[in-house]
Amino acid sequence: MKNFQFKNPTKIIFGKDQISKLADEVPENAKVLMLYGGGSIKKNGIYDQVVAALDGIDYEEFGGITANPEYETLLEALAIVKAKNIDFLLAVGGGSVIDGAKFISSAALYEGDEPWDILSKRIRTSKGIPLGTVLTLPATGTEMNSGAVITRAETQEKLSMGGEGLFPVFSILDPSVVASVPQRQIANGLADAFTHVLEQYMTYPVGALLQDRFSESILQTLIEVAPVILDNPADYEAAASFMWSCTMALNGLIQKGVPTDWAIHMMGHELTALYGIDHARTLAILTASHYTHNLEAKKEKLAQYATRVWGITEGTTEEKAKAGIEKTTEFFQSLGIKTKLSDYTSESEGTAAKVADRLAARGMTKLGEKGIVSPADVEQIVEMSY
Ligand code: NZQ
Ligand code: ZN
Repeated sequence: MKNFQFKNPTKIIFGKDQISKLADEVPENAKVLMLYGGGSIKKNGIYDQVVAALDGIDYEEFGGITANPEYETLLEALAIVKAKNIDFLLAVGGGSVIDGAKFISSAALYEGDEPWDILSKRIRTSKGIPLGTVLTLPATGTEMNSGAVITRAETQEKLSMGGEGLFPVFSILDPSVVASVPQRQIANGLADAFTHVLEQYMTYPVGALLQDRFSESILQTLIEVAPVILDNPADYEAAASFMWSCTMALNGLIQKGVPTDWAIHMMGHELTALYGIDHARTLAILTASHYTHNLEAKKEKLAQYATRVWGITEGTTEEKAKAGIEKTTEFFQSLGIKTKLSDYTSESEGTAAKVADRLAARGMTKLGEKGIVSPADVEQIVEMSY
């Protein structure tokens, strides 16, 4: 096992009717900006619950943060933060709203002229203005981590940022919110969380027995709840396990002491930036190709996954590894997610090279554990994904 340090300062408030606890968590005398998305919270009752809980607190609102949060929109919110002396952000939404809030949190204290530099120059955020979240969509884990992904439509870029200053102070996780989430987003959440675990697990063995079991148990839980929650998003118990699995999949715990990959995410962000494909679906498109292309490097963990998660006990290490890849594709498809790039775009000419070039231009020429994925590999992996 590798050396590691672990600190996660986010307070989780989990369970039914917990949104009402908001007022206990927002600092006294705070001037709050409540951020939300395209309006789903006004239809499903979450907005009313938040507003009721904020009774007596001085707050402003900013709605309209889109999926794949857009830089230009976030700059509008940033202007409000500055004009109204906001000192606490409350994000009410899924990954996009929470990530957007993280960007605003960082940009509000950023001293440079161009806040986009935080992303393009990968400036880490050691301090932002504090933020809390009310999660409305289990998927990304952003409610308990210090990362964010921001899009700039103008330049077709989707870039990541992070730093210890971006952990939410608290996150309220009420699984009841899942009842109103559309099937497409539930499927996305399941696939995203599943891939988060894979990206931190599917490398090579380092004797991290507990981390492996943590990861396998999250994968098994997602597999178990998937058909239940897709069939009935109002099933509270299934929603609770789904929600907690998504959080645990990317709150830092399972990646401690182990090598991580993240190549699927890096390539996937390019596909979203170019074609607007939902984040989770880009992952489903790339996973099998990535693992097949890198079978030699990953086969031991793939075989372990096939055996422990999918019960495949027959065959050589390589045969089990390949069966594990097939099971993964079948799992994505069982969620109603198409797994080929050609299912999403008819544009094929030059895409693979474009993805490789864009990553290389940002210095990402050695992706994956041990830097095994070169631009030439990226090109082949994307090519295999049609
Ligand atoms: O905008 P509204 O009206 O709120 O509707 C949203 C949106 O259309 C809707 N929704 C959310 N909660 C709902 C609901 N509809 C009904 N009932 C509810 N309770 O769902 C749609 C998608 O929302 P979005 O926030 O975009 O989805 P998700 O949580 O999957 O977030 C995706 C974003 O997170 C980034 C992705 O790249 C993408 O931009 N990621 C962030 C990560 C992180 N910070 O750690 C890691 C991930 O790998 C990922 O990259
Ligand atoms: Zn993801």
